Amino acid sequence: MQKNQTQFAPKSFEDFVISNPRSREKLNDIFNADKPFPGGGKNAICLWGTYGTGKTTLAMELPKLLEESRNMPVIHNSPSILSSSRFWELTKCGEENVTTIIQGLNNRIYQPALSQSGWRYEIFDEIDVIDIKKGQPRLKSAMTHSENTVFIFTTNHPDKLDRGIIDRSHLIEMNQAPVEHMADLAEGWMCAMGLSSGEIDRATLIDMAKESRGSFRYFLPEVQTAVNRYLRTALSNSTN
Ligand SMILES: Nc1ncnc2c1ncn2[C@@H]1O[C@H](COP(=O)(O)OP(=O)(O)OP(=O)(O)O)[C@@H](O)[C@H]1O
Ligand SMILES: [Mg+2]
Repeated sequence: MQKNQTQFAPKSFEDFVISNPRSREKLNDIFNADKPFPGGGKNAICLWGTYGTGKTTLAMELPKLLEESRNMPVIHNSPSILSSSRFWELTKCGEENVTTIIQGLNNRIYQPALSQSGWRYEIFDEIDVIDIKKGQPRLKSAMTHSENTVFIFTTNHPDKLDRGIIDRSHLIEMNQAPVEHMADLAEGWMCAMGLSSGEIDRATLIDMAKESRGSFRYFLPEVQTAVNRYLRTALSNSTN
């Protein structure tokens, strides 16, 4: 991805688009400790929804957000948590076989937590890739017996998840956001690029938002292209 597109990647929780307002409220309740987490038998957060809505990006930020919400300073030398592996682990479920995944997890859950709060964070990206009959029940069992571990899952297919895993998870819906909301975001990006936001008309932004089906992988480059086109035309008009 181009550098000028990554500048608009979400930087704080507010920048993420959580399509379901109830889901955003649920995460805020967790961050504010109105909802004890882990608690009530749940020790996982499962981000589910259609493609490109920011699930993996948010999953990678959740350990830091959860630590900060416990008023624990996040200790690392870099401004980004992505370069620190002190207290979280990422498993790309599509890249390892289930036995390796469960063995690795079982080895880690008995290690002392390295976070300030005493929690460890296990991120499982694309959890539905783990076989629902053979693999997921083993993961469910590990979840039951790991007292200091918070699990964070992402999936496009919540229907392919073991009921026991779902039951242990707070489900956060990240599907296609309202197109008006996405157009508002695009206008914010345009302002950040030094435009006044009217250069690309609202109806065009709404059309792009519809075509994206909620995916920022489609939407952000489309907006960027329209901005580039506008700037190139404006420049050539001014030099003629
Ligand atoms: N709210 C947002 N604003 C701007 N860019 C975003 C936003 N959310 C996600 N993105 C960008 O969209 C791209 C896709 O994000 P990500 O990979 O997290 O999506 P995903 O939901 O995990 O997709 P998939 O379902 O295909 O795995 C990334 O480049 C990310 O920076
Ligand atoms: Mg993803």
